[in-house]
Amino acid sequence: MKVNAADRIIVALDHPHDLENPDRAIEVKDAIDIVQKLEGLVSFFKVGWPLFLAKGGEAIVGELVKRGKRVFLDLKYGDIPETVKRLMQRVAAGGAEFVTLNASTRAVRAAVEARDAICGSKLKILRVTLLTSLDESDLKMMGYAISAKDYVLRIARTGLKAGCDGIICSAGEAGEVRKEVGTDFLIVTPGIRPAGMDTDDHKRSATPKEAVMAGADYLVVGRPITRSADLRAAASQIIEEMQAAFDALG
Ligand code: C5P
Repeated sequence: MKVNAADRIIVALDHPHDLENPDRAIEVKDAIDIVQKLEGLVSFFKVGWPLFLAKGGEAIVGELVKRGKRVFLDLKYGDIPETVKRLMQRVAAGGAEFVTLNASTRAVRAAVEARDAICGSKLKILRVTLLTSLDESDLKMMGYAISAKDYVLRIARTGLKAGCDGIICSAGEAGEVRKEVGTDFLIVTPGIRPAGMDTDDHKRSATPKEAVMAGADYLVVGRPITRSADLRAAASQIIEEMQAAFDALG
């Protein structure tokens, strides 16, 4: 079945579209402004802590769902299994479609069980692996004498066994992960930068084409869109590049 790339881009609502003051914190009205500017082009949005903790931010998931948008609630949450389970009950009731955990395998399993106990929940639980702002030198500092690929594979493998629905990983590992986990496991890839663009704080970034060709199902894109003068043009260009790559994969 032909993939529609516009359904596979998730725009991160972390930064206001404010070219004069791009470093100020995002407010709810900034997020709504971005969503409106991308109306008809992008329908999936990522809400992280900066927006969720803004004044009125706790209502943003409901507001986006009311507007017919899909929501990725990027909590990167980790706690003891019982607390993670309690959080999943809240998240599942809120209408988000994706949520991230940065938690132990046992806590991931507890989260999956809590989600499964909620009849008809469409919430997908994704596990964070290695942030794209980190590389092997950071892994070494954390005490892991292991490559980024092996680390990500280990987290993916145990996550899959625990029943989670997918992972967040860079394009650099997506290919290996895809080979191992098959097609039902979601791979969501952030750290996306069109060719030639500043990679900002990412050490392991990739172009939209590279990420799709590596096997990513969804791409998360923030600043390349929200900080560009013409949001719609920036999003369209990325979607076009994704579409060509999805088409090439067949
Ligand atoms: O602006 P940019 O496209 O770099 O935004 C990346 C988004 O993806 C941010 O919301 C960040 O929190 C998220 N991210 C992530 N995991 C990574 C890298 C970025 O969740 N490995």
